[in-house]
Amino acid sequence: MEELEQVRAEIDRIDASLAALFEARMAAAAKIAAWKQANGRPIRDPAREAQVLAQGAERVAEPAMRPYYAAFQKELMALSRAYQASLGVCAGTLLPERGSLRRAAELLPKGCRVFVVTDSGVPAAYAETVAAQCDCAGVYVVPQGEASKSPETLTALLEAMLRAGLTRSDCLAAVGGGMVCDLAGLAAGLYMRGVGSYYFPTTLLAMVDAAVGGKTAVNLAGVKNAVGLFRQPKAVVIDPDTLATLPPRQLANGLAEAVKMALTHDAALFARFEDPAGYGPIEEIIAACLRIKAAVVAADEREAGLRRVLNFGHTLGHGIEAAAGGSLLHGEAVALGMLPMCAPDVRARLIPVLERLDLPTYVNFDLDAEQVLEAICHDKKSVAGGVETVTVPAVGQFAFRTAGWNELKSLLSAIIRQQGTGGADCHGQCAHWPRNDTP
Ligand code: GLY
Repeated sequence: MEELEQVRAEIDRIDASLAALFEARMAAAAKIAAWKQANGRPIRDPAREAQVLAQGAERVAEPAMRPYYAAFQKELMALSRAYQASLGVCAGTLLPERGSLRRAAELLPKGCRVFVVTDSGVPAAYAETVAAQCDCAGVYVVPQGEASKSPETLTALLEAMLRAGLTRSDCLAAVGGGMVCDLAGLAAGLYMRGVGSYYFPTTLLAMVDAAVGGKTAVNLAGVKNAVGLFRQPKAVVIDPDTLATLPPRQLANGLAEAVKMALTHDAALFARFEDPAGYGPIEEIIAACLRIKAAVVAADEREAGLRRVLNFGHTLGHGIEAAAGGSLLHGEAVALGMLPMCAPDVRARLIPVLERLDLPTYVNFDLDAEQVLEAICHDKKSVAGGVETVTVPAVGQFAFRTAGWNELKSLLSAIIRQQGTGGADCHGQCAHWPRNDTP
């Protein structure tokens, strides 16, 4: 017994030294994060990680302990990345800064060709501003809208890059919303087995979510994001000034994703959306979302676990979006998809927030529940017997749960307004949904 206490005291002393060393290591990681931030470099550096692991194995004298030490180091590096990310750094993402589009030259590589991809709905001046700062650039415009997130547009883009004679040392710059970043990012990952990509998101949705975290994809045979890569851009430049030309409906579209992040991670951010005086400067909202997203992505870049939390509201949301046949924007469908997944008291707080942001709180058009379930069935989150969902039991918290198909169907009924009734969460102010003023 006495011997046990002695060994425990020894472990306590070792742990105290480890805590001090841990603090010193994280402080060093923060300095590296600041350097990477300043130089537009990603947090993750696989070559350096391999070097750290190799060195570590040599340092442990007892061979039987080496695999455990390697596991400890891997965990340490993951925590280090998460800490760096919590400081606001996410794979080369620069914190929002007004006017940063005009300073693209500071980041873009010199002496190479830059293929600037944008869409017909983005003010041409934004792509031209980026192109004008490059040594040699061309602008490629795809039609505005989700339909361009297709294998056909991807092929046409790759062929245009080929015709332009782009080599592996050239790069691609995406200027626009989530569709442009997803499409161009995928093209950059595929062309000549990969060229560098730079994102200049110009919609709020892309700034807080789509352009950050390294997901690229196109849709295939009606299945959203069915073909894609996890691939980090070299840098993401967020210039909130570009939001000045964003139609109000598109702004609300992005705010839905910001509310999603607040609900699952940040009660203080959610309170800002509840404030009758308004949520405050948009760059602060973007920065808060980036901190959340950066921490999640740094901990689980490839969506093996934690990153699934970013799908909160998206399971039902994607199904509703598909069944709505283009009448709902992504964020609008996510707003609807979040409601049934919240605890009742959270839902009661969410409804007025969505209403204030002019986002829908119920479906008042003919929504075929079977069609929604069919679309969910094709979703990557679908598992045997149901689908993986994220729930919010309290503001700022989340939980993962598999929901069966019958349960999903009854959850859907919470947001489908019955003809001639108020519907479960129905509020008269939103009777104008869905709107048909798609920009
Ligand atoms: N938009 C969800 C994610 O980036 O994982």
